[in-house]
Amino acid sequence: MYSIFNLTNGGIILDKLVINGPTRLKGEVNISGAKNAAVAILPATLLINGVCTIDNMPNISDVKIYCNILEELGAKITWTGKNEIQVDTRNISCKNVPIDMTSKFRASYYLLGSLLGRCGSAEVGVPGGCKLGARPIDQHIKGFEALGAKVDVTGGKIVAKAKKLTGNHIYMDIVSVGATINVMLASVLAEGTTTIDNPAKEPHIVDVANFLNTMGADIRGAGTDVIKINGVKELKGNITYSVVPDQIEAGTFMLAAVASRGDILIKNCVAEHLDSVIAKIVEVGANVEDLGDSIHVWMNKRPSKAIIKTLPYPGFPTDLQPQMGVCLSLADGTSIINESIWESRFQYTEELNKMGAKITAQGKSAIFEGVKSLTGAPVYMTDLRAGAALIIAGISASGTTEVYNLDHIDRGYENIEEKFRKLGAKIQRVTE
Ligand code: UD1
Repeated sequence: MYSIFNLTNGGIILDKLVINGPTRLKGEVNISGAKNAAVAILPATLLINGVCTIDNMPNISDVKIYCNILEELGAKITWTGKNEIQVDTRNISCKNVPIDMTSKFRASYYLLGSLLGRCGSAEVGVPGGCKLGARPIDQHIKGFEALGAKVDVTGGKIVAKAKKLTGNHIYMDIVSVGATINVMLASVLAEGTTTIDNPAKEPHIVDVANFLNTMGADIRGAGTDVIKINGVKELKGNITYSVVPDQIEAGTFMLAAVASRGDILIKNCVAEHLDSVIAKIVEVGANVEDLGDSIHVWMNKRPSKAIIKTLPYPGFPTDLQPQMGVCLSLADGTSIINESIWESRFQYTEELNKMGAKITAQGKSAIFEGVKSLTGAPVYMTDLRAGAALIIAGISASGTTEVYNLDHIDRGYENIEEKFRKLGAKIQRVTE
C-alpha cells in the first residue's frame, strides 16, 4: 500500500501530502503539456535520424522514464529549458531495452510501433501502468500483424518482428488510444497506404499525427473517423514542436473549482477539448466562460446531482471520472457514474468513503449519495487520476487529509502541489 521511496538504516521513508481544508480555490493556473501526447512523441523521435526540439514537455516522472529508455537505446537527451528538450537520435542502436525498464509503465508499448518502424523488430516487457483492470493489447497486435509483422507474447515480453511493413486497411474492434497511435507509428515508414477505421480521436492522437507530419510523414484525418497514412521513405529531423496542452490536467483544475466552490482561470489550454466536461459541470451548476485558450470556472453553490457515463473522446473522459466523482460525492442528491472504459476505476471511492462520502461502487457503476461536506482522513492514491481526485477532496474537506502513494501523481502532474498552493490550498509535501 505504501510507496517506499528509500530504505535507510532499516527505516522506510515515505512522502505524503498534508492538506488542511476546506479552501475555496481562487486564482490562475498554467496548464502543462499533455502527458499522453508526450509519452508518444518521445518514442516517435526514434523514427528519424536527427535532432528534434520539443517544447511544452511536461516535467513528470513518466517523461523522465521515457528519456531514460531512449538514452538506453543511444539517444542523446538534453533539457534545454524547464520544459524544452532536445532529442538526438543519430546514434540509435537497434537493441532490446532491459525488460524491467519497459514493464514499469504502460506507454512503453509505443516502442513496439516506433522500433518496428526504425529497426524492423522490437521487444518490450508486457506493459505495466495504473492498475485499472485488464489492459489487453490485442488491437495493437492486430494492427502490427496487418502491416506484416509477426508478434509473439512470451515470457512476460512482447516480441515483434517484420522484414518489411506494408500498408493495409485496419478496422479497430475497440476504440483504443494506444493502438491507434501505435499503428500510426508503425505505418508512417511502411510501403503504401494504411487506413485505420474506428480510431481513437483524442487531442493527443491529433498531436502525435501533427508531430509526425512536421517530420515529413503523410497522415490525414487524425481526429476523425478514419485515419489515412501514406507511407514515406524517411522522416527528417531538425524540427521544433510544442506539445498540446494537457486537457486532463485542465479538466482536473476545472473540477477542483467545482468541488471547492472556487474561482479559477485555467490558462494555456484548449477549451474545445473539454466540451463534454464543460457541459457536465454547467449541468451541476458551475459557471464557465470559454476564453478559447483559457477557461474560467467558478462555483457559488453545492453541485447538483448528475448522471455521467465515460466514453472515448469526445465523450466524458475516464481520466476525469474520479475528479468528477469528488464533485458528485458533495452534490445535492444522488448521482450515478457509469465507467465504460476501465472496470477497476472506482478504487478511489473506498478512500473517499473514509472521508465521509457515501458511494457504493459495483462493477462498472457507482452510486453517489451526496453529502454536505467531507472530513479529512489518511487516504491512499490507487492510481494517477485517483490521486488527483483525493487531492481535490482534501482541499474541499474540513480538517487534515494525508495523501499517500505519491509516485502515482508524480507520474502525470507537474508540480501539482505548487499549482494548488498558488490557488490558495494549504498543501505540503512531507517526508516521514
Ligand atoms: C490511454 C491513456 C489513459 C486513458 C485511456 C482511455 C495513455 C498513455 N494512456 O490508455 O490515460 O485512460 O487511453 O482514454 O495515453 N483495449 C482493448 N484492446 C486493446 C487496447 C485497448 O480491449 O488492444 C481496451 C482497454 O481495455 C480499454 C479500452 O480499450 O477498455 C481503451 O483503452 P485504450 O484507449 O487503449 O487505453 P490506453 O491507450 O492504454
